Amino acid sequence: MIVELDKNNKELIEQLEHHFHYVLMDVLSDLESNPFSNYLLYIDNGDIKGYINYYLMYDRAEIANFDVLIEYQNQGIGTKLLDNLIKKLEGKVINITLEVRCDNEKAISLYKKFNFIDKALRKNYYNGIDGILMERSMDKMKDVYVLGIESSCDETSFSIVKNGCEEIATVVSSQIDIHKDYGGVVPEIASRAHVKNVTFVLEECLTKAHMTMDEIDLIAVSNGPGLIGSLLVGLESAKTLAWLYHKPLIPVHHIAGHIYANNLVKRLSFPLIALVISGGHTELIYMDKDYSFKKLGSTLDDAVGECYDKVGKVIDVDYPAGPKIDKMAHEGSHTYNLPMPLNDASYNFSFSGLKSAVINLVHNEEQRGKEINKEDLACSFQEVVVDILTKKTLNALDEYHVKNLILAGGVSANRGIRERFANLCENKNINYTFPEIKYCTDNAAMIAAAGYYAYLDGRVADYTLNAYSNMELK
Ligand code: KG4
Ligand code: ZN
Repeated sequence: MIVELDKNNKELIEQLEHHFHYVLMDVLSDLESNPFSNYLLYIDNGDIKGYINYYLMYDRAEIANFDVLIEYQNQGIGTKLLDNLIKKLEGKVINITLEVRCDNEKAISLYKKFNFIDKALRKNYYNGIDGILMERSMDKMKDVYVLGIESSCDETSFSIVKNGCEEIATVVSSQIDIHKDYGGVVPEIASRAHVKNVTFVLEECLTKAHMTMDEIDLIAVSNGPGLIGSLLVGLESAKTLAWLYHKPLIPVHHIAGHIYANNLVKRLSFPLIALVISGGHTELIYMDKDYSFKKLGSTLDDAVGECYDKVGKVIDVDYPAGPKIDKMAHEGSHTYNLPMPLNDASYNFSFSGLKSAVINLVHNEEQRGKEINKEDLACSFQEVVVDILTKKTLNALDEYHVKNLILAGGVSANRGIRERFANLCENKNINYTFPEIKYCTDNAAMIAAAGYYAYLDGRVADYTLNAYSNMELK
C-alpha cells in the first residue's frame, strides 16, 4: 500500500530513517520546519520498501528524494510510487520537477516513461557529475503553439504550428526573383534580403494567425546547415523574441524540419525511412522514434537538387531548374542513354558524374551539328535519377524491415519521383507520406513542427546558441 507519512507516526518515521539513513537524517524536524515537505511511502507487510520525498509548493511540485531499497528494486515499486504521486497531484499543480544524475540511466528512463522531459543541464550538480533538470507538465490538455523561423537559404519564413502537427499560419517570402539573374543564390544578397524581410514576415504571420507573441509557447529556429549569413538573421531574430517574451528557444536542424513537414500531413509512424532530397542534401535516414535520426548514407558530391539546377544551366532552363525539368520530363520520352550513378549496394549517392554525362552528351551532339531534344533529355535524366533514388530507398526499407517511407526536401515536389514511389510502395504494401507541395521547399511550418518534437526531446538552448553552415543531424 502507498500512504502519506503522518508526522505523528513515530514508528514509521524511525523505520524510514533507519532504512534510508544515508540520505534521510531527521525526517521529523524536516516535516516540522518545512511546511512544503511530504513523504509518500510504499509499505508492504508493515515494512517500508520505498519512498518519495516531495515538496508541494502552491501550484508546483518538486521531487527531492526518491528511493527503493536495493533488495526490492526492479519489482515495479518505483513505478507504483511515481504513478501514485502523479495521480495525487493531477489538477493541483502545473508541473513536477526533479534533478537526476546524468549517469542514472534507470531513473531517467523511468521518468521519461512518465513523460518527464529534459529541461536543463546542471553542471557538476552532484560533486563533479552533471545533473539533469527534468519536468513533467501536468497541463495535459494545454495546446503548444510553436513559432518557427526559417532563413537558411533564400526564403524568409515564419509560421505558427499547434502541437507539432496543425498549421495555424505560414508566411514565406521567396527571393527567387532576386537571385534568378545570377543563376543561383548569392549569399550576401540573400542575407541582406532576410534583414529587410524578417519584421514584415513575422508581423504578417501573427496577423494571419490572429495571435500575439504572448500566446506563443516556444520559438524554434533553423540554425543550420545553410548559408551562414542567412542563418544568423533568423537566429538573432529568434533569440531576440525568446529573450523579449521569455519563451524557450529551440534549435532545429534544417533537415529535421524537412522531415517533419510530413507530420503536417499525417502523424509520423515509426520505424521509418526518410529519403531527404533537396538543393543541399541527398540522404537516407532511419528513425525508430521521434527526433532520433540515424544516417544510412548520403551523397558523396552534388545533391540531387543541385544536379537538377546544374543540368538546367546546360539546357538553358532558369534557376531553380528542378520544377521546369520535371515538367519537361513529362513532355518527352526516355531516348538518351545516361549512366546509373553509384549503382552499388551502399546507401550513398553520387550525382556529379550524371551531371557531367549530361554536359558531355549536349556538347557531343552540338559538335555533330545535331539539335538536342530538351524534353527527351529532361525525361532521360529524370528517369535515371528516379531509378537510383528508388533502388537505394527500397533496399533500405527491405534491409531494416521498415514499412513506413517519407520523402523530404525541395526535390520531393518532383512529380516523376512521387509517381514512381507511390506505385512501388503500393505494390509492396509500404505506407508512404509526401509533404504537401508548398512545404517541400524551405518554409517555417516544417521548422515549427520539428521544434515541437525537439522540445519534447529536451532540446532547449540558451542565448549562446550559434548557427552553423555545416551541421550533423543528431
Ligand atoms: O529544400 P529546398 O528548398 O532547399 C534546400 O534545402 O536545398 O530545395 C530546393 C531545391 C532546388 O534545387 C530545386 O531545383 C529543387 O529543390 N526542386 C525540384 C523540384 N522542385 C524544387 N527538383 C526537382 N523537381 C522538382 N519538381
Ligand atoms: Zn531545404
